[in-house]
Amino acid sequence: MDTDFENRVTAPEYLQEDGEVELSLRPRTLEEYIGQEKVKDNLAVYIEAACKRGEPLDHVLLYGPPGLGKTTLAGIIANEMNVNFRVTSGPAIEKPGDLAALLTNLNEGDVLFIDEVHRLSRNVEEVLYPAMEDNALDIIIGKGPSARSIRLDLPHFTLIGATTRAGQLSAPLRDRFGVIFRLELYTPEELACIVNRSSGILNIEINQKGAVEIASRARGTPRIANRLLKRARDFAQVIGNGIISHDSAKNALDRMEIDSLGLDSIDRLILTSMIRNYNGGPVGLETIAAAIGEEAITIEDVYEPYLMQVGFLSRTPRGRMVTPAGYKHVGIPVDGQQRFDD
Ligand code: ADE
Repeated sequence: MDTDFENRVTAPEYLQEDGEVELSLRPRTLEEYIGQEKVKDNLAVYIEAACKRGEPLDHVLLYGPPGLGKTTLAGIIANEMNVNFRVTSGPAIEKPGDLAALLTNLNEGDVLFIDEVHRLSRNVEEVLYPAMEDNALDIIIGKGPSARSIRLDLPHFTLIGATTRAGQLSAPLRDRFGVIFRLELYTPEELACIVNRSSGILNIEINQKGAVEIASRARGTPRIANRLLKRARDFAQVIGNGIISHDSAKNALDRMEIDSLGLDSIDRLILTSMIRNYNGGPVGLETIAAAIGEEAITIEDVYEPYLMQVGFLSRTPRGRMVTPAGYKHVGIPVDGQQRFDD
């Protein structure tokens, strides 16, 4: 299999090629942020209330598939609260001392953002509990029977944790977040607004039909929409008149093998291999993963949310199943697998 999983144009993770441009496209205020309306509405209330009381915001957990704007939203919270934004990630904090260094360097009210917070080690998590609860850092001095613990005061701060897998968070950590938001995949209409906004920032000429075409193939994910926009601009400049229209966007996306609903070759491979090898399911996640040579966790976090959103895959207690709509999309009759035995 020669598919390059890491560099797919439809990968929702941050890629090297997204570069600085992605940063320039990130909204800085809640007002500029498109979509996630329920999250925004509640957040606006919590932020205003905390500001009125002169307190930091409660600790916030953001979870959902990659590419939906968890880091962006955390940055907006810091900006709206008018405090510093410190960014790190679970795997980057290797030892309790690393976290202690981060915490003691915070200013009063700052936002500490920990991406992939489910990947914190147990030792590190234990430093985090008193920090989140009592703004305190417990330090053990000495070893053996003479060891004792001293408590240092920390500035008040807001921890914002982000994860694609809320289920993997330990219960004590999850319980210490006062606010928990789940980010949802974006609708094509919301993505079209994001594409228009990004085009304005990047000086890309695009008409409404071009924006809708890109949006409808972006798998509910702004990061993918912005990436497709840049690629569509390349095609429009080289092959067309520089303006992204419906036709030029369609042509670009067809050439990138992204179909009318945004499925790429790997999405289609998942569906077809489930149909051909397992009669469309029910089949276990690990089995699908082995069949296509991808990790189960990636299938669950990255591919499944969109395949379920478009109604091509369902999760049942006995495993995953391709729906009749999924069969139709890949052009295989529901009762016709025998035709594909060869
Ligand atoms: N760029 C990426 N995500 C965005 C969002 N939710 N709103 C506006 N611009 C974005």
